[in-house]
Amino acid sequence: MKIAIGSDHAGVEYKSAIIKHLEEKGHTVKDFGPATSASVDYPDYIHPVASAVENGEVERGIILCGTGNGAAMTANKHAGIRAALCWRTDIARLARQHNDANILDLPARFVSLQDALGMVDVFLTEAFEGGRHQTRIEKIPCR
Ligand code: RB5
Repeated sequence: MKIAIGSDHAGVEYKSAIIKHLEEKGHTVKDFGPATSASVDYPDYIHPVASAVENGEVERGIILCGTGNGAAMTANKHAGIRAALCWRTDIARLARQHNDANILDLPARFVSLQDALGMVDVFLTEAFEGGRHQTRIEKIPCR
């Protein structure tokens, strides 16, 4: 699968570990940065990930910041994006099954790396259930 990833300085270490994890599993990862842990503004790195998912350049996105909130607020400004802030694997699973989330958003300062990698795996393998959930996600965009 083609996956875009981006973070701020708070998520950059986990970002590297996630990229390694994904590449070992055979995925193609487009890293939108940052490359170092120097302080940055998360919208500069999250908007490009959201755009890549929105325009179909990649199938899914993964974003990280300290709490996950700034990243979620940024990505969810894009009309075609459903970014889910997740801190447990069961929430990541439901974000796919019920919300057809196309971006996984991780709060890097509040989850272990092991849990983050577990959420990544679930996010990439779980299918959307459709049905009543399709009706609901169609009502998300502002008209
Ligand atoms: C950075 O210190 C922190 O504010 C950021 O990673 C994120 O938590 C913002 O929502």
